[in-house]
Amino acid sequence: MIQFSPVRRNEIEALILREASATPYPWTARNLNDSVDASADCRLIKHKGKTIGYCVVQSVLDEAELLNIVVFKPYQLRGFGTKIIQKLKAELAQSGMINIFLEVRASNLIAKALYEKTDFEVVDIRQKYYRAGNQVKEDALLMRCSLS
Ligand SMILES: CC(C)(COP(=O)(O)OP(=O)(O)OC[C@H]1O[C@@H](n2cnc3c(N)ncnc32)[C@H](O)[C@@H]1OP(=O)(O)O)[C@@H](O)C(=O)NCCC(=O)NCCS
Repeated sequence: MIQFSPVRRNEIEALILREASATPYPWTARNLNDSVDASADCRLIKHKGKTIGYCVVQSVLDEAELLNIVVFKPYQLRGFGTKIIQKLKAELAQSGMINIFLEVRASNLIAKALYEKTDFEVVDIRQKYYRAGNQVKEDALLMRCSLS
């Protein structure tokens, strides 16, 4: 079973270290510290007592935005991402959120598959939004899932 708990400040360095080997585009410790400072909902994700990733959600009124989600390398492609998104959606709906938004690189096919499987749809494309490789810019897909 997936469990969430708040990210504590003294866990950030270790999370960022593990994220660096989980994705080519990791967050920095500063990104995560800034999210904690901004009182974003930074959640440690545990399975059977082990930390398997983290996610960050920022909510304004009744709209939530998933700012980051990482499943650490040994746990990827085992269905955890799907379970995490389902649990997150259920909890956000329970707390009165109407929509959840996110942005994903067009080349991130695994994340895109995960979001489509959990009922997100592309609502906009931000052309050449992300830096990638040798300054080639990459599109961002803005996705939304209705929680009502
Ligand atoms: C993206 C991420 C959160 C997904 O979590 P996960 O636990 O690996 O995801 P799941 O195993 O639940 O689902 C992945 C799906 O991608 C599919 N998939 C795998 N390789 C794929 C590919 N090359 N093209 C399309 N789909 C693919 C899998 O088949 C699976 O779908 P299925 O369960 O219907 O078979 C995780 O891989 C991760 O942390 N990646 C690095 C960080 C990142 O990219 N975060 C997203 C930022 S927007």
